[in-house]
Amino acid sequence: MAFNSELGTSNLSSAGASLSANQDISAIEYTRFCQFLEKKTGVILGLNKEYLVKNRLRSILEGAKEQSLNELLNVLESGGENALTARVIDAMTTNETLWFRDAHPFDILKESILPELSANPRDQTNPFRIWSAASSTGQEAYSISITVTEFLKRNPGAFPKSVEIIGTDISQAAVQQAKDGVYDEYEIIRGLNDQQQRQYFTANGDKRRISANVKQRVRFQELNLLQSYSLLGQFEIIFCRNVLIYFSNEIKADILSRMARSLKPRGYLFLGGSEPIASYSDAFEMIRCKQGVVYRLK
Ligand SMILES: C[S@@+](CC[C@H](N)C(=O)[O-])C[C@H]1O[C@@H](n2cnc3c(N)ncnc32)[C@H](O)[C@@H]1O
Repeated sequence: MAFNSELGTSNLSSAGASLSANQDISAIEYTRFCQFLEKKTGVILGLNKEYLVKNRLRSILEGAKEQSLNELLNVLESGGENALTARVIDAMTTNETLWFRDAHPFDILKESILPELSANPRDQTNPFRIWSAASSTGQEAYSISITVTEFLKRNPGAFPKSVEIIGTDISQAAVQQAKDGVYDEYEIIRGLNDQQQRQYFTANGDKRRISANVKQRVRFQELNLLQSYSLLGQFEIIFCRNVLIYFSNEIKADILSRMARSLKPRGYLFLGGSEPIASYSDAFEMIRCKQGVVYRLK
């Protein structure tokens, strides 16, 4: 197979495929697809990613009556095929994630922010709320919940109004796996030590299921970050990691200003390592902790 499969397409059989290994995507089709994807998700593919589109859409086109990317786009742009649009978005989003990704956000959470905010609550009447925006298959939100569990063991009663963690993502398939909370061996070993695997998971056939006490404070729902956040309510902390990199500067600025409005006073924002925000938002101040950087609403 000539194409690079690093980005996750598993069904690469080309026998009888509509978009076969020999059928190239034209420049016009590629541009049209990029415009469709950016309008729906904000994700910018950039130049020369025809191989990626080809690999990721191959299994969808194999099963569809549309014979080419152009025909598929005609259907998608007509707006009536929500299930097909969702499958294309699932195929085109990069759901790469792992447990306790980069470690330091979870260390900062446990050692600095949870102690500070439990001692000086921003809101005494509602649950303490954390949003994992672009939560993919759930590892980030559950890592936050494990961190909260460990903090509460040492500080029982620290959050008298309970803790709520909301995970959201545009990918239906990712959100469904997050809701199920079931992971295969390959997913489990990425970021969890033996003790965490034993303590926070139960056997589920040849997979593992997140334990009920970690799961009970987490819920997931589909949400496109280009759309309104108002129904989610206000949060003490937002994790928005490894997703802004896919968007244009205008969309980054818009998302950050709406996230600022979704935070309670002096709430905290965690971003991915390669996502500095100084040029997109002046709503936050950078806080340097010994483990790394977090942003606080001014
Ligand atoms: C690389 S993953 C990052 C997951 C997790 N935050 C982490 O850092 O490990 C990026 C996620 O962003 C999601 N995503 C992309 N565009 C989105 C959008 N417009 N709205 C919501 N989620 C989006 C993808 O579906 C994917 O699950």
